[in-house]
Amino acid sequence: MSVRNTPRQGRFVTFEGIDGAGKSSQIAAASKWASQAGWELVCSREPGGTPLGEKLRELLLHEPMHLETEALLMFAARREHLAQIIEPALARGAFVLCDRFSDATYAYQHGGRGLDAAKFAALEQWVHPTRQPDLTFVFDVSPDIAAARLVRGRADADKFEREQQDFFQRVRQAYLDRAASSGGRIVVIDAGQSIEAVCAAVLACLQERFG
Ligand code: TYD
Repeated sequence: MSVRNTPRQGRFVTFEGIDGAGKSSQIAAASKWASQAGWELVCSREPGGTPLGEKLRELLLHEPMHLETEALLMFAARREHLAQIIEPALARGAFVLCDRFSDATYAYQHGGRGLDAAKFAALEQWVHPTRQPDLTFVFDVSPDIAAARLVRGRADADKFEREQQDFFQRVRQAYLDRAASSGGRIVVIDAGQSIEAVCAAVLACLQERFG
């Protein structure tokens, strides 16, 4: 009898929060955890993740544009990212870590900029009708603390990093609202704690869900 080796089911984990919430060090810790747990690791980011997506990222982060153009380009980059990177990796059984995904469009374009919620929902339904992350971390921190971490106003700050505190307050609230209705997919972590405490919370959650 022949035994077919089916790969284990892939996992899709995303990292979110306002600019300056401290995602990067947590993504590094989660990557290490996944590698040590024996997963094939795929680390990516949005907007970006593919050659086309990275070109769109340049435009999105630096070019002024209409709010709906911004939302459409975010989802265009995402469509390419799903087709080229995310879906093939999940089909191989990889552990996919992504720095931002559609929750960022909900928080920034809907919450921050006022994109109509129905238009967001239509784009999400079009681009990934059946795919959602298995787990999403939202690193929650006050815009004051985040701003201090970012040293906002530095010369190379992008379009989003130049936004004011009230924008980030709306983005933060949109993340919290989305988390509350996510049925446990989105885990909110207090990112005002020390990096070590945040990291411990992330690793404990990964271990509990996928260990
Ligand atoms: P970010 O992920 O913070 O990268 P870095 O840490 O390298 O600056 O930057 C991406 C920016 O894009 C961030 O300000 C949020 C914004 N963004 C949206 O507004 N909508 C989206 O759908 C995504 C994915 C990102």
